[in-house]
Amino acid sequence: MRTDARIRVEGTDLTFDAASDQPVLDSALDAGIRLPHNCRGGICGTCRASVVSGTLEADSSVQYALTQRERENGVWLLCQARPTASDVVVRVHAPLPPQPKAADARPQTFLCETVATRPITPRVRELVFALPKTAGFVFKAGMHVEIAVPGIEPPRTYSMLDAPGPDGKPVDGLLRFLIARQAPGAASAWLHETLRPGMVSSLTGPFGTFGLPERVPGPILGLAGGTGIAPVLAVVEEALSAGFSAPVTLVLSVRDRDEILAMDAFSRIARRHENFAWKVTLTREQPPPGTRFGTGRIPDMLHRVHGQLAHHTVLIAGTPGFVDACEACVQALGAAPDRIAVDSFLPADPATPQQGESIA
Ligand code: FES
Repeated sequence: MRTDARIRVEGTDLTFDAASDQPVLDSALDAGIRLPHNCRGGICGTCRASVVSGTLEADSSVQYALTQRERENGVWLLCQARPTASDVVVRVHAPLPPQPKAADARPQTFLCETVATRPITPRVRELVFALPKTAGFVFKAGMHVEIAVPGIEPPRTYSMLDAPGPDGKPVDGLLRFLIARQAPGAASAWLHETLRPGMVSSLTGPFGTFGLPERVPGPILGLAGGTGIAPVLAVVEEALSAGFSAPVTLVLSVRDRDEILAMDAFSRIARRHENFAWKVTLTREQPPPGTRFGTGRIPDMLHRVHGQLAHHTVLIAGTPGFVDACEACVQALGAAPDRIAVDSFLPADPATPQQGESIA
């Protein structure tokens, strides 16, 4: 990598070299430094930062997440902004995630064999990839990778469904994903209809900083829309396996019973951990009597389940509309903004950020 600038993150001892022809976030990731980020497409706003000294530049048309006022006040998206001075100091707005210990936590590209592809619901398939034996792939629960789809750019991003093992590596070298079929969505159509066991795909990652803060003093509430359950489940299961003892509640929102995901995982975790509870709410079907399902959108039903969230840490993952509505709802119930972690879908076409493929 060409080195054109030295970047320092204010209030930390993090410094790294950066090239003027790539976003600051990519330079940080190349250096093994995790700055807050999620979509890397200018949509989610997780990588917001202010310039303390030095200068940055970016095409304003790709900084979708910024308001006009933020642009005027010198806020940048580090996934889009490039350095234009030799020394730049930035102040990131979101809490810094824990920094990786292993040098192989840097994003890398791996050729992975598809070892299973199976339908989970009418719209969702589970894909399982085997990493090469020699791959030093280390990740944290809640992270995602880019899966290359032939002839389609950019690659699509999907969250790992499982937490890593104690060494930070995928258990048995396998990575599982839930892939929702989008309409229209050429990438998800290819992953559903063309990808078969034995075929080799290019996976790049890991990316993302979705997860729990370093200290979680109180209960955890996880809210997931559809395949957004993947990163939430991975983070929750990792915390419980590490001995987290405060109550953990997970709420999955789907349209009807045909779309219910991961009930087997919920049941398994509930048997192992008495402090774990889960609910499914259906938004387009009245649950029949005798089933354990609720009804209604999460923002409409949450106040009935949780009166106050002032002491909760909240995880939210799903479509941008789902995430925004849930985030507003939990804040109205008292959740502190710095105790809310969100993971929104990445758009299929960066020019039309609302029409997204799922990251989950
Ligand atoms: S806007 Fe930069 S990571 Fe999402």
